[in-house]
Amino acid sequence: MDSSPKPSLFVPDPETARGSRIPDYETLYAASVADPESFWGNLAKELHFTKAPRKILDWNPKTFEGRWLVGAEGNICDNALDRHVRDGFGNKVALIWAGDGGEEELFTYGRLLDQTVRFAHILKKLGVGKGDRVTIFLPPTPGQVIAMLACARLGAIHSVVFSGFSQAALRSRLEDFEPKVLVTADCAYRRGKRIPLLETARAARKGLTSVEATVVVPREGPPESLEPGERSLTDLQTEVRFAGPLPSVPVTCDDPLFVLYTSGTTGKPKGVVHVQLGYMLGTYATARTIFDLRDSDVYFCVADPGWITGHSYIVYGPLLNRATVLLSEGTPEYPDAGRHWSLIERHRVSVYYSTPTTIRLQMRFGDSWPAGRDLSPHRSLGSVGEPLNPEAWHWLHRVTGGKLPIMDTWWQTETGMIMVTPLPSTPEKPGSAGRPFPGVVADVVDSSGHTLPSGETGTVVIRTPWPSMFRTVFRDPERYRKYWTEIPGAFFSGDSARRDEDGFFFFLGRVDDVIKVAGHRLGTAEIESALITHPKVAEAAAIGKPDELRGEIIKVFVVLHPHAADTPPAHDEIRKHVRTELGGIAEPHEVDIVISLPKTRSGKIMRRVLKAREMGLPEGDLSTLED
Ligand code: WTA
Repeated sequence: MDSSPKPSLFVPDPETARGSRIPDYETLYAASVADPESFWGNLAKELHFTKAPRKILDWNPKTFEGRWLVGAEGNICDNALDRHVRDGFGNKVALIWAGDGGEEELFTYGRLLDQTVRFAHILKKLGVGKGDRVTIFLPPTPGQVIAMLACARLGAIHSVVFSGFSQAALRSRLEDFEPKVLVTADCAYRRGKRIPLLETARAARKGLTSVEATVVVPREGPPESLEPGERSLTDLQTEVRFAGPLPSVPVTCDDPLFVLYTSGTTGKPKGVVHVQLGYMLGTYATARTIFDLRDSDVYFCVADPGWITGHSYIVYGPLLNRATVLLSEGTPEYPDAGRHWSLIERHRVSVYYSTPTTIRLQMRFGDSWPAGRDLSPHRSLGSVGEPLNPEAWHWLHRVTGGKLPIMDTWWQTETGMIMVTPLPSTPEKPGSAGRPFPGVVADVVDSSGHTLPSGETGTVVIRTPWPSMFRTVFRDPERYRKYWTEIPGAFFSGDSARRDEDGFFFFLGRVDDVIKVAGHRLGTAEIESALITHPKVAEAAAIGKPDELRGEIIKVFVVLHPHAADTPPAHDEIRKHVRTELGGIAEPHEVDIVISLPKTRSGKIMRRVLKAREMGLPEGDLSTLED
């Protein structure tokens, strides 16, 4: 056995003395997949554990459970905050918050830690301890980040629900998750409009017995009146004022960090479960390498912490890397189309992680918005959520000076971390998400799992475990198994792609019934279930229709109940109904009232036929069509 220490394949960065640069992707990649435990184990050494791991990976090919950092004890909040304060970086800015109305607030690592400890005290006082569940329904504000970190500190499990969701969508998540505590705000702001978050939260939790307390964080101010079970954060803060330190609770490799609900192919969103230590290693390593984060950087990711991108690349990944993170509450077009460019200039942002829809929107607004701005600190760009089309790639490349690397990163809620991506030092091809991250074995296969040659389109699978892999689907282990049995033994992503002769991935979209609207993931079944709760709707089908700006838009076909046919509902009424049921992001853009839907003989709606018709394409094999 070779016992000599393995040389590091990272070249130390002259500025940080940390090894972030990867000079030779091919060599590093080959070494990482030949010996993944050394590759990931070396990266794990850069993190702090109260007990070192005994084994890097314990993979069970029967249950598909990947246990990373077996025997280790540590805490992700300790690594994201306390570690940096201990290292003398308490005065470094951790978070810059840019509010919807132009407000700004700065948090140093020291202040963020202090506020997190206070919040953890509050949660503890409300009975939250290791393994307890907390739902966070807050707008993208520092309070949201603090609440997440405070849960992690206690070893509690958070579930962040996007603040744009409706009460029905929040309720179904509360019903499944059964949290002990719900954290919400008096209101949220979006494009200058006040959104009554507390009212939504009240309606959603009505009658749910699991929720023992609701903490109301002031966005505008303390709420005027509170209902039983609600506590104002301001009052609670007074109560824990002299509580003192509260060390983070060490957790093991099996302890969950969060459950994040995402759309799948059935009507019910699934709770994707991530565990603390493995997730920490995956997000730390990817944020460090892909964004090459340095102490002088200001890093801006446009996501909302309510989605996985925000979890991994606003909160955990960057803070684990001691980055300065810009969190923007607003949308890219409010108060004007220059919103992001002015934030980038004002805060001297050097790494900007955006989305194709945002980039295409900026492109539509035109060059004049970025033109003339001082973007000189800028070092790299990123994109996530849907394929980044070459036009948008070229536009972004050009308006930012024509020299910056663009990382088109492919990954999912389930993977927890970026899986396929260029690196700052590797070549890029417009329209491609590059090659797999070191240690990740991604493949393009046919329906029986055989690797396809370059140029052929197939589905994307991941063949071996990775550190921040999801551990299960909350309360639904069978659904977890399904990911690994579609192509036996490999993780089935649900995406299609082809590779070119250099091994670069070109992602094309979903192969299942998931729609990506402006990067938001929605299940056709979810939208259909919402539609048929309308009293006049008997049957419904939803499809994603290609759209230049948003990638896809939602088009729905509805069949009315016979009694409703005389007084058909207005299209607006149907759209509004879905909005109320699921929230604004799921509102259909187009509604067609039809007499019947194409179905298989066994009664399944053939969405692919609807989609082909809609796009004027051949309808394909119709042998199973009922009529
Ligand atoms: C899509 C978001 C093409 C894909 C992090 C995936 C992408 C789904 C890309 C996951 C990309 C994400 N190119 N498609 N760079 N990144 N996707 O769970 O369809 O919200 O399966 O996670 O987004 O969406 P999710």
